[in-house]
Amino acid sequence: MKRFLILYMSRGGHTARVARVIMDTVREQGHQCDMMDIVEATHEPVAWDSYDAVVLGAPVLYGNYDKRFMQFVADHKELIQAKPNSFFNLSVVARTPEKSTVEGNRYMQKFLELSPWKPQDLKVIAGKVDYPSWGTLDTLMIQMIMKMTDGPTDKNSVIDYTDWEDVKAYGRHLITLAG
Ligand SMILES: Cc1cc2nc3c(=O)[nH]c(=O)nc-3n(C[C@H](O)[C@H](O)[C@H](O)COP(=O)(O)O)c2cc1C
Repeated sequence: MKRFLILYMSRGGHTARVARVIMDTVREQGHQCDMMDIVEATHEPVAWDSYDAVVLGAPVLYGNYDKRFMQFVADHKELIQAKPNSFFNLSVVARTPEKSTVEGNRYMQKFLELSPWKPQDLKVIAGKVDYPSWGTLDTLMIQMIMKMTDGPTDKNSVIDYTDWEDVKAYGRHLITLAG
C-alpha cells in the first residue's frame, strides 16, 4: 500500500474537486491518500515522512500560477523531489486536443520554465468556465481570452470541460508512478 499527498491551490473550487476525484480514485485502488490546500500547507506542518508520493496541482489564472503556489514549490522543492512526484495544471484552453498535451499547453511549458521544481510527471487538465461565479472584471477579461480562442463568451455560461474519466485514469497512473 502506498501513501499519497495531493497539495493543491484552487481559487474557485474546481481544482479542489479534481484533487478529490484523484484522491477517491487512489483510495478505491486500496491506497492511502490525503489532500491539503497549499495555504494550509504553507502555514501548518506537512507530515512529509508519512507519504510515498507527492502530487501538486494548480489552476492557470491570467496565464500564471498563484504566487503562493509558486512560493510553496520553491520553498519545498527538495522535499517534493525526494519522492515520486507529479504536477497537474487546469486551464480552459486545455479544452482543445492540441492544448491538452504537455507540449501543446503553453501554461505547462511556462511552469517548467518558471519552477525550480522539475516534476517527474506532468498532466494537463481542462478546467471550468463559470462566468456567474466570477466578478465583472474577471468575466470581461476571460470573455476576451475566450473570444481569442473561440471559446464561450455568454456571461451566463457554466461549462465543465474536465474529462473526469481521464482524471480517474491519471489517479490510477499515479499509483504506477509511486512504484
Ligand atoms: C481570474 C481567472 C483567470 C483565468 N485565466 C485563465 C487563462 O489565462 N487561461 C486559461 O486557459 N484559463 C484561465 N482561467 C480558467 C481557469 O484556469 C479554470 O476556470 C479553472 O478551472 C479554475 O480552477 P479553480 O476553480 O480551482 O480556481 C481563469 C479563471 C479565472 C477565474
